[in-house]
Amino acid sequence: MRAVCPGSFDPITHGHLDVIRRAGALFDEVVVAVGRNSAKNYLFDTDERVELVRAAVGEQPRVRVELLSGLLVDFCREQGADVVVKGLRFASDFDFELQMAHINHSLTGLETVLLPASAQWGTLSSTMVREVASLGGDVRAFVPPLVAERIEQKRNPHA
Ligand code: PNS
Repeated sequence: MRAVCPGSFDPITHGHLDVIRRAGALFDEVVVAVGRNSAKNYLFDTDERVELVRAAVGEQPRVRVELLSGLLVDFCREQGADVVVKGLRFASDFDFELQMAHINHSLTGLETVLLPASAQWGTLSSTMVREVASLGGDVRAFVPPLVAERIEQKRNPHA
């Protein structure tokens, strides 16, 4: 069974990578879909996010990274995927993911599997990584080295 792991990944964190790796162990193939939530302002543009997710995911058998530009349900249909996998950290994630799962199921019957975030990364968020980085904090514990470097370049382009 082919699964899609969608997200904004702004930036991709160790929490995302943990969910992607575990999804890879559960499904035959995983397509990581780098999309856009119209309610969000992004630090990295779409091309940069795709590039960083590809670099962070690396060469994992049966895992590939693609750009998600339209509706997630259309993307899943094009990819031949019947299920979406999303990580779940705390109750507020659940409220949002439940709404998304319901609307996606109403649109095409697409199913959603919610995978509990592992304890180590259970409260990590891209938003907090961006906040810490924007105030000069060290985010290297939370993201892959290349991502930390690129965040630093955004913050301090002339360094
Ligand atoms: O990491 P995020 O911000 O939770 O990811 C959200 C994303 C990009 C997966 C979501 O916004 C999405 O699926 N966007 C594509 C458009 C769509 O299908 N929206 C759902 C119906 S409202």
